[in-house]
Amino acid sequence: MSYEYRTGLGWDSHRIAAGRPMLLGGVLIESEFGLDGHSDADILLHAITDSLLGALALGDIGMHFPDTDPRWKGAESMQFLLHAHSLVAEKGYEIVNLDTTVILERPKLKDYRVKIREYIATNLKVPIEAVSVKFKTAEKVGPVGEGKSAEAQAMVLLRRQVRE
Ligand code: C5P
Ligand code: MG
Repeated sequence: MSYEYRTGLGWDSHRIAAGRPMLLGGVLIESEFGLDGHSDADILLHAITDSLLGALALGDIGMHFPDTDPRWKGAESMQFLLHAHSLVAEKGYEIVNLDTTVILERPKLKDYRVKIREYIATNLKVPIEAVSVKFKTAEKVGPVGEGKSAEAQAMVLLRRQVRE
């Protein structure tokens, strides 16, 4: 038995806004500001969703869930990720591992790492060891560093069994 592998890359950025919740990887972060967006603006789940779609060349999150569609206003981003995951499963692929980075000046996120990894792993039905979540500041430089926006990056490796 051997495997066929595919890798995918995802990236997202949203503006920082007062009076909005900050959700990262489906986890509510204690913060005096949040992220602006049509949906719940969870950049980490959006980047992961795009990495899954990208791995199988299935387009991008905006193609599947247009932000002009009222159905997705305030939508919980986990439903985007679960949909992308179902497309991956339909094609016979499973997740080997996910590696991600959130770039945000503040607040500090490291105490949320385990909770975020657990939430993503549980939803994607993979062991927690398959989900890596890293955090970086932008060293006070550029829009992220100046606290105007936040970014997330994700990479995924998928595999499917092939008969020899
Ligand atoms: O960006 P910098 O290298 O200074 O980040 C140092 C560490 O601080 C990171 O490795 C990460 O663990 C943590 N961090 C965090 N929350 C952030 C940014 C960084 O917990 N918003
Ligand atoms: Mg987004």
